[in-house]
Amino acid sequence: MTDQLRSSSDAPVKVLLTGANGQLGSELRATCPAHITLVSTHRGTLDMTQAEQVSTALAMHRPDVIINAAAYTAVDKAESEAESAYASNHLAVKKLAQAVSEWNANGQNAVYLLHVSTDFVFDGKQSTPYTPTDPTHPQGVYGDSKFAGEQAVQAYCPTAGIVRTAWLYSVYGNNFVKTILRLASERDALGVVVDQVGSPTWTRTLADTLWAFVVQKPLGIFHCSDNGVASWYDFAIAIQEEALALGLIKKLIPVTPLRTEEYPTPARRPAFSVLDKRTTEDRLGYKLPYWRNSLREMLMELKQKTTTV
Ligand SMILES: NC(=O)c1ccc[n+]([C@@H]2O[C@H](COP(=O)([O-])OP(=O)(O)OC[C@H]3O[C@@H](n4cnc5c(N)ncnc54)[C@H](OP(=O)(O)O)[C@@H]3O)[C@@H](O)[C@H]2O)c1
Repeated sequence: MTDQLRSSSDAPVKVLLTGANGQLGSELRATCPAHITLVSTHRGTLDMTQAEQVSTALAMHRPDVIINAAAYTAVDKAESEAESAYASNHLAVKKLAQAVSEWNANGQNAVYLLHVSTDFVFDGKQSTPYTPTDPTHPQGVYGDSKFAGEQAVQAYCPTAGIVRTAWLYSVYGNNFVKTILRLASERDALGVVVDQVGSPTWTRTLADTLWAFVVQKPLGIFHCSDNGVASWYDFAIAIQEEALALGLIKKLIPVTPLRTEEYPTPARRPAFSVLDKRTTEDRLGYKLPYWRNSLREMLMELKQKTTTV
């Protein structure tokens, strides 16, 4: 079946996108290459928890590729809303993988499923970047539900690629970068966690990778984040410095480094969630951007958006 996956870079491709109104979904809509016909769906038009809606969408749109950018992403709320988290991140993904697999068994062209997952499948106890084959050990409901989704994709859909990412931010939706920008104008000081490190990642970096994968259709698990490492504290300082230089904020406010126990949250987070991206970079044929360069570019885009509105 996998031989049926088309891989020519200039062939027209039809992509069905789920979760199109999220941070990543919005970035994918904004960056869709010309040779791709994009069918964007959101919860209102395709609720992933409704199996019949998934099968109907496949039959109606007959895509070459499905990008699953839909997910329950409220990490802390998931601890008290486990059923909702598993419904979108596990059961819906299982139904999607089964539907694609059934479709492929009956159809002429195999549909390729590109599923997005998370660094939260790891426990963060390692001190070297996690490779796609490193042992998983999710710490909370969100991570566990996403891991269950990965396992369902692997169990039911042989024509799938899974891309784990981390610490996403974007000009779209709510995220850490926008929160820091807001707090910099509302508060006189800020405390931010310093003992959790990872790689801040612009949704543009991930979208570029996913568009390349839509053409290449690699099978298995891949990691994609911006390069380099920062703590949330470093990230908060960098956001302020870059935003001040661009005139997005008027002043820097002092940031105090906090330990995780000084900022308790319902969900435990991995202390170290840096992803090893070498297999992805080999596939792409280029190095993923350095996180601070991506941050600067994102802020420039945000400035352009806010001044042209
Ligand atoms: N954000 C991060 O830092 C981060 C880090 C690592 C991995 N990831 C992964 O990256 C992917 C994209 O994340 P994101 O930041 O773009 O998330 P997001 O902004 O929360 O977007 C997720 C979208 O999925 C939709 N959705 C949820 N359940 C759905 C369902 N049952 N049917 C249809 N749509 C549904 C949501 O719609 P509603 O608003 O209506 O719920 C939302 O528009 C996810 O797989 C996430 O797990 C994110």
